[in-house]
Amino acid sequence: MTPGDEAVIPVPTYAFFETQVRLNGGVPVLVPATPDLAFDVPAVLGAVTPRTKLIFLCSPNNPIGRSWTTDEVEAVLSAGIPTVIDQAYLECGYGPSFAELVASHPNLIVTRTMSKAFGLAAIRVGYGIADPAVIDLLLRVRIPFSISLVAIRAAQAAVGDPRIVESRREFISSERDRLFAALAALPGVSPWPSEANFITIDVTATGRTSTDYVDEARAEGLLLRRMAAHRLEGQYVRVTIGTVAENDRFLDVFSRGVAAAGQPKLD
Ligand SMILES: Cc1ncc(COP(=O)(O)O)c(C=O)c1O
Repeated sequence: MTPGDEAVIPVPTYAFFETQVRLNGGVPVLVPATPDLAFDVPAVLGAVTPRTKLIFLCSPNNPIGRSWTTDEVEAVLSAGIPTVIDQAYLECGYGPSFAELVASHPNLIVTRTMSKAFGLAAIRVGYGIADPAVIDLLLRVRIPFSISLVAIRAAQAAVGDPRIVESRREFISSERDRLFAALAALPGVSPWPSEANFITIDVTATGRTSTDYVDEARAEGLLLRRMAAHRLEGQYVRVTIGTVAENDRFLDVFSRGVAAAGQPKLD
């Protein structure tokens, strides 16, 4: 990416794509989702210009939670532009993997991380799946010794027994479904369906701000994320799926907050 080059980024999404493009002097071309939070494939294709160097997709998408379908991805890949699909949350749910599409689409680069379902964020290991010509280029610009041997061994151990990650996937998915149903039953609360290890919750209709919920949760030792950096209209918080006990505690604190929304404030 050199100054003036463009990167097409469907939003809302992981903010890092946009900041990295800007840091490299590029121009992020942001393509909003449709009002019902679907990916707007025709708009993504319409945003491609002769200056487009990259397209960034995220599947499952943070913070929307939804996965891209294979048809949608193939439509985007047909533009022939190098396209990165960040699949950081893939192992948290049952959305499609796009690794196999690399064989038929040399412009596709799939990225994965050990930071989410594998629970190894602190070892700082991820990996990419791409055409050998792309990998060759990446290896040429990669800093030497970018990953420690300790981290490589930990990552290898983590993928050594696929049953472990499958049980994480099942646990995260069933807890996410349980939390989703409980949240959807609260007045004024609209959780977004998710295939990741988080649920983004629209709290606008409760009449309280995302800051109210985040501050209340913090006072009880819970960390909720306010979705302010995603240019979303309205009030949103994001909760990460934890243990059963943590999820129960979150539901308790959050539902009290929602109930307080209907009460007059006592000063
Ligand atoms: C979509 C997405 N990709 C990547 C990451 C970060 O992954 P890593 O810990 O490997 O840098 C995150 C973390 O929030 C994320 O949301």
